[in-house]
Amino acid sequence: MERFYITTAIDYVNGAPHIGHAYEKILTDIIARHYKKRLDNVYFLSGTDEHGIKIQKTSASKGITPKELCDENSAKFQECWKALDIDYNKFIRTTDDYHKSAVQKIFKKLVEQGDIYKNSYKGLYCQGCECFLNEKDLTEDGLCPNHMKKPEEVSEENYFFKLTKYKDAIIKHIKENPDFIVPAFRANEVLNQLEDIQDISVSRSISNVTWGIPVLDDPEQVIYVWIDALSNYITALGYDTEENSDDFRKFWPVDVHVIGKDILKFHSIYWIALLMALKLPLPKHLLAHGWITIDEAKMSKSLGNVIAPQDILKIFELKNADALRYYMATAAPCGKDGNYSDDDFKEKVNAHLANSMGNLLNRTLSMLVKYFDGEVKSEFKTDASILNTAKNTIDIVKNYFDNFEVAEAGNAIMTLVDVTNKYVTDNAPWTLAKEEKMTECGHVLTTVLDIMCVISALIEPFCPNIARDMAKQLSFNLDIKYDDLHVDNIKVGKLISKEDIYPVFLRMDSELADKSTKKK
Ligand code: ME8
Ligand code: MG
Repeated sequence: MERFYITTAIDYVNGAPHIGHAYEKILTDIIARHYKKRLDNVYFLSGTDEHGIKIQKTSASKGITPKELCDENSAKFQECWKALDIDYNKFIRTTDDYHKSAVQKIFKKLVEQGDIYKNSYKGLYCQGCECFLNEKDLTEDGLCPNHMKKPEEVSEENYFFKLTKYKDAIIKHIKENPDFIVPAFRANEVLNQLEDIQDISVSRSISNVTWGIPVLDDPEQVIYVWIDALSNYITALGYDTEENSDDFRKFWPVDVHVIGKDILKFHSIYWIALLMALKLPLPKHLLAHGWITIDEAKMSKSLGNVIAPQDILKIFELKNADALRYYMATAAPCGKDGNYSDDDFKEKVNAHLANSMGNLLNRTLSMLVKYFDGEVKSEFKTDASILNTAKNTIDIVKNYFDNFEVAEAGNAIMTLVDVTNKYVTDNAPWTLAKEEKMTECGHVLTTVLDIMCVISALIEPFCPNIARDMAKQLSFNLDIKYDDLHVDNIKVGKLISKEDIYPVFLRMDSELADKSTKKK
């Protein structure tokens, strides 16, 4: 039985969601929705990462307990994903009891089998990264290159994980599986990092961090937040070292972990070593996406340019998230950095979703009503050559998704829209009608409507609401699997009446276009 398991990174809850977090969840949701149109068993996991020094400090500064901060902010993430139509099967919180107890058991198992041992340690800890850094990782001024902050010196007795034991096996796995790390150009980066890998500290003394999962039988120590966090991918399915739940047996190993490029090291080295130690099968792919900037600048609280996804919906009076989903999903080629700007957003979605795609459907249906009272006649034939292009696009899109090239797939769908628009212009059905070549006119309209069904099915993972509105006006069953999707979708007979035609995406008008997410 074919099944597909996909996860996002779980977000730290020391703040509210921003469009960088949203980018990842949108990409993942689109991949999951695409596979739901190919397979019956798709499992999509997301969640929040709630332990560690950062959460402890943020909550202390606000005068609330860490759990109160987690509850408040985890809820904000979940509300945001709801507004963006992120349709996960499960949302895990690392403060959930089943997760905590499974992580304790995993840790204990690794101690018992000798993969985790106790040792004293002195090192430089970056709270932003929640990890120890080597001197050579730092900038010339001794700062963490990701957070531009000085790491703190930590000296304590900790548990260590024997990462070095798995080094050669990880290198071998990466070299033998060129599609393991996507995009492939990032694999070299990881191989370089593996060169001078050391055993890693996997616990913190409670004199330094209290907000974490306690080590069983050693209440002076809490489990390192990355061990806790990475384990979510298996604990969510019910793995706890002993009984393997049905979901775990059905869905592990994961098909793809979708993560940002900044946390690839944790997933391609630490997580892989942990799975090897647990003797579990490895993930099939790690998709490391790029970074989203705002107006080409890094998003940061200090720059004051952090954008909340829901603010974009509110300011531009969007009734659903389709436009934002489409824009973010096509913002960058697979694995590359992308940018958000208000102007580019408005321009692109107006051009693609309203002018090209929406308008194509609208004017074709309007012509069908005007010339044929909304009826598709039995003598109307379809144009094989352009339908072939549509058929090929189905395969092209599937192929892109098999390589997790979401933006490329989105662009391929929009290319089909452009080709179809050109077909309408070239064949000028309005001229054919004027010349009373009604059957020829009917051929053109039927051909376009047939392709619009294909487009609605292909665009659905990106824009589920627009796709539904398109399919409704085409009397097309959107539940169809891609394997059953052909180019004979339009039935002979009355298709639509004038009053049932409506635009699937309204242009953002000029007044709204003057608005901006930038605080004035
Ligand atoms: O790293 N553009 O959490 P996090 C694109 N809890 N992606 C971005 C981004 C941006 N500007 N900012 C953040 C953590 N992300 C850990 C993960 S997984 C077991 C634990 C992405 O809240 C980032 O790359 O810092 C990561 O994949 C996700 O958002 C959560 O980041
Ligand atoms: Mg981060």
